[in-house]
Amino acid sequence: MQPPSFPPGTRSTTRGSAGARPWNAAVILAGGVGARMGLDIPKQFVPIAGRTSLEHTVELFQSCELVDEIIIMMTPGYIPKAKELLEKQPNGKITAILPGGADRSETSRLALAAIADKDANVIFHDAVRPLLDGDIIGACIRALDVYAAVDVAIPSADTIIEVDEHNFIRAVPPRAKLRRGQTPQAFRLPVIAQAYERALQDPDFAATDDCSVVLKYCPDVPIFVVDGDEANIKITQPIDIHIADKLFQLRHKTALPGGHAEGLRGSTVLVFGASSGIGLELVQQLEAEGARVVGQSRTGNGTYVEDRRCVAQALADAAATHGRVDHVILSAGVLSVGPLAQLTDEQLHHDVDVNLTAAFIVAQESHKYLARSKGSLTLFASSSYTRGRANYTVYSATKAAIVNLTQALADEWSADGIRVNCISPSRTATPMRTRAFGVEEEGSLLPAAAVAGASLQVLASAMTGQVVDVRLPYTDASNDPALVAQP
Ligand code: CTP
Repeated sequence: MQPPSFPPGTRSTTRGSAGARPWNAAVILAGGVGARMGLDIPKQFVPIAGRTSLEHTVELFQSCELVDEIIIMMTPGYIPKAKELLEKQPNGKITAILPGGADRSETSRLALAAIADKDANVIFHDAVRPLLDGDIIGACIRALDVYAAVDVAIPSADTIIEVDEHNFIRAVPPRAKLRRGQTPQAFRLPVIAQAYERALQDPDFAATDDCSVVLKYCPDVPIFVVDGDEANIKITQPIDIHIADKLFQLRHKTALPGGHAEGLRGSTVLVFGASSGIGLELVQQLEAEGARVVGQSRTGNGTYVEDRRCVAQALADAAATHGRVDHVILSAGVLSVGPLAQLTDEQLHHDVDVNLTAAFIVAQESHKYLARSKGSLTLFASSSYTRGRANYTVYSATKAAIVNLTQALADEWSADGIRVNCISPSRTATPMRTRAFGVEEEGSLLPAAAVAGASLQVLASAMTGQVVDVRLPYTDASNDPALVAQP
């Protein structure tokens, strides 16, 4: 996203008294019912990537340094629910949660009346656009130094046609000049307030956004357009929930690897499967970050992850030694290669137990500790979760189940403040993999250290319900393990 470029000579000095910048009030428009979604709750309450769209959106404005105040306009009857959800996050900037109006425009108008500083900037944003890039908020606010009205839009890939009431084409405007409007939309308050005042006098007034109100009723005011982002979708139809979920996942994938996992110093982390591969790397990296790490493994201390007593004991010991358990990671796994028809009953049960039943057991036994610490559980899937793999059916099927378990638990435990995520690495250089496939081409495997590094970022983050893909840079489909002949 590019910051807006200003025509020469148009940049004004900062408005506001004594050189201070203006007050920036964000308005989260959450007053709709989401009729097109067809659910029995408004769509802003649908969980996406572990949290409601409302929470994601509000958090974006909470963390934008330029935003001073957040006003939430909520569907009447849902204010208590919104308060309950938002109480859980640091919400220092929320000054009011108020009932919305009969339509979006009325909601905007009611919000304007609630802003105390009549010289403020106001930044409207749809609660159902949780994927907004935080930089765009800043770009809109900065653009208000020069312009009184700012929109956010992206080019249209589709040709837009105008139809008449009988569904015949009336016009096809040239696509190059068309943009698809998004939010935020930002204004100097006196301008948008005047536009709405004039609109109120118009018996035919109708609008689905705020910039069009300025365009129509204050035509002399130029409206600057900041570049939007394809990912900033508006959750409107049921399919959008799936798309948004995936977009969150992709975003974390690109945002994750590298950097330090701040915030782990002093926390107690229990790693199951700590003797080799990713588990061993995790232990080493966590120790380097200053965490108090307890490593458990079959070979190291006789801890079988599929055995409830072992798991319960390991947790109790860690809590007794360190007083708390902040994070639990389950990285143990087995990978048997061969046609399913030839797998023995014993192998089958063993692989399902270690790869899947163990995750249920670890989750059950960890719950009380993590509820106390408001901590996290991290599981391991594999890139094979997206498509079953011939010759390691049990492995890929159990890894798909881990993804489902992660999403379910993230929802189930959100009220307890416990985060649940899973890491989905592509082919990783581990002893488990070498045992299964022998020595593979150098450079074709992810180093276990990279996977551990990404996992630490997840641990230190606020994310929950995420399936975090970790891949080699520039890996394309031809490099995908599904498409490579396996021994
Ligand atoms: N909105 C609002 N007040 C209204 C109507 C809509 O604050 N009276 C908000 C919605 O909550 C949403 C945004 O405006 O965040 C965009 O509107 P839209 O996608 O049309 O939401 P809904 O009106 O909820 O959806 P639908 O049209 O399907 O009922």
